[in-house]
Amino acid sequence: MNGAADRPIGVFDSGVGGLTVLRELRRQLPSESTIYLGDEARMPYGPREPAEVVGFTREAMRWFARADCKLVVIACNTATSVALETVRDEFPAPTIGVIRPGAAAALSATARRAVGVLATVLTVRSGAYVRALRDLDPLVDVAQQACPKLVPLVEDGKAESPAALDAVREYVEPLLTEGGVVRPVVDTLLLGCTHYPLLRAAIEKVAGRDVRVVDSATTTALAVREVLASHRLTRDGGRAEHALFCTGSVERFQTIARAIFHEDPPDVRETRLA
Ligand code: DGL
Repeated sequence: MNGAADRPIGVFDSGVGGLTVLRELRRQLPSESTIYLGDEARMPYGPREPAEVVGFTREAMRWFARADCKLVVIACNTATSVALETVRDEFPAPTIGVIRPGAAAALSATARRAVGVLATVLTVRSGAYVRALRDLDPLVDVAQQACPKLVPLVEDGKAESPAALDAVREYVEPLLTEGGVVRPVVDTLLLGCTHYPLLRAAIEKVAGRDVRVVDSATTTALAVREVLASHRLTRDGGRAEHALFCTGSVERFQTIARAIFHEDPPDVRETRLA
């Protein structure tokens, strides 16, 4: 046993949606202990100002430092897009966001080098996905679409409703047609928000068979695996422990978790950040 490697991985999200990333982490790294923190009391981050989200993310990073996490995953796309670069230099634990892994997943999928990004208003405003995609392929065509109706629909347990399909149509169809405006016709859609994997069926239906739909969960877990391995922080066996914390009401967190994942909510504890 190695003390440093036995410490948990911290996973941060603005609320419940980051559990999609946690799930994939636990699947790929079954020996690792995890601590999940959802800032449910201040969710959603998507419509906020960048400075506010940087402040919240900094508070979360302090919380993870107190919990002695060996690595922190910012599973929230919005927080990654505006805060990762700032907080990464302020805390000792290696910190991984979801934007670059998501961009890498999209570039592995696109044959015509044309990617559509679906994300929150702030993620789109930040341009973080465009930068990450162009860092990896300077010639890639990128079209972004902010989708403010989707997070509330998922949180209300309406991911499979006709209203969700209508909203998806409203956001996705403009990315698939030229329609008078000069836009790349994308062959890959990148789900740039924690909640959108829960709408994958509707998005795939609207996008059609010729468009690939990718998210960042798998590649983010892969990035975590690589950082742990290269810094000798991989935990080798033993019983992994998992803890879930949220700010605000535990009951609300559990209700939303149940609505989103259709399964019994896990044991969640309340905490404070500020
Ligand atoms: N977690 C956010 C994201 O991935 C979505 C929810 C929110 O707006 O806080 O962008």
